[in-house]
Amino acid sequence: MNTLKVERHGPVVTVRLHRPHVLNALSGELLAELLDVLRPLDGDPEAGCFVVTGSAKVFAAGADIKEMSGRTAADMAAEDYFSGWEEFAGLRTPKIAAVNGYALGGGCELAMMCDLIVAGESAVFGQPEIRLGVIPGIGGTQRLTRLVGRAKAMDLVLTGRTMDAPEAERAGLVSRVVPDDQVLPEALEAARAIASHGRASVAAARECVDRALETGLRDGILFERRVFHGLFATEDQKEGMAAFLEKRVPRFTGR
Ligand code: CAA
Repeated sequence: MNTLKVERHGPVVTVRLHRPHVLNALSGELLAELLDVLRPLDGDPEAGCFVVTGSAKVFAAGADIKEMSGRTAADMAAEDYFSGWEEFAGLRTPKIAAVNGYALGGGCELAMMCDLIVAGESAVFGQPEIRLGVIPGIGGTQRLTRLVGRAKAMDLVLTGRTMDAPEAERAGLVSRVVPDDQVLPEALEAARAIASHGRASVAAARECVDRALETGLRDGILFERRVFHGLFATEDQKEGMAAFLEKRVPRFTGR
């Protein structure tokens, strides 16, 4: 691995972006390595949560500008540049972004592709692509608008200004803000909690919450109710409810 450092502790897989000379800029090689690591683990019953993080100073300062700068529109279209990130976004294992420092451009978009964002107090978020003569290209105009609303999204995308962690939390972008040195421990604790639950109920919960961003309330509630009914076909539902009634810790098997 040239661009990542990977660690696994039980069901939690931590991927650290590691291109320090370019502030973890997201290159094609980095995306390929990220998918090489996570693709085989996605759906592995032993893998319960992925944590994506950067260094103590930077999460990622965006897509790699040097890699992109000389390309033509025809090159971008022919490669369907950035389309590979949709595979990362579509991984079914829950993902947590543990963010210290800059999460700009593609870095902010990567964080938004995760299910939770745990941010340090000095984290900085933004979509500054307008300053480069372009726009966000890995879902920034779409995911940011859904997460923080049109008013804030327009402000960030059109001015290119950044947002500090407290503003990002107020805006609804960030799940938790903690002291900088607590970012990874907090993210790992959340990852272990998620991984301790039944895989089917976690997958169902993610799908239903994300559905809320894509559908009307009536259809979303119906979808949720059908998924809820379906979980009664799992052993984990029987075990979870029996454990509660017997006042013991459940032993989920993912079946
Ligand atoms: N791509 C490539 N290289 C980058 C980079 C990026 N996104 N961000 C930083 N670097 C490189 C710099 O060129 C510099 O390299 P050299 O030492 O060889 O000059 C090195 O990383 C350190 O950067 P700075 O000297 O600029 O560090 P700084 O602390 O002064 O500033 C910063 C930090 C404010 C984050 C600044 O680096 C910056 O503005 N980076 C670019 C942010 C940006 O525009 N991101 C959007 C990219 S486009 C995108 O992401 C499109 C999309 O939607 C996917």
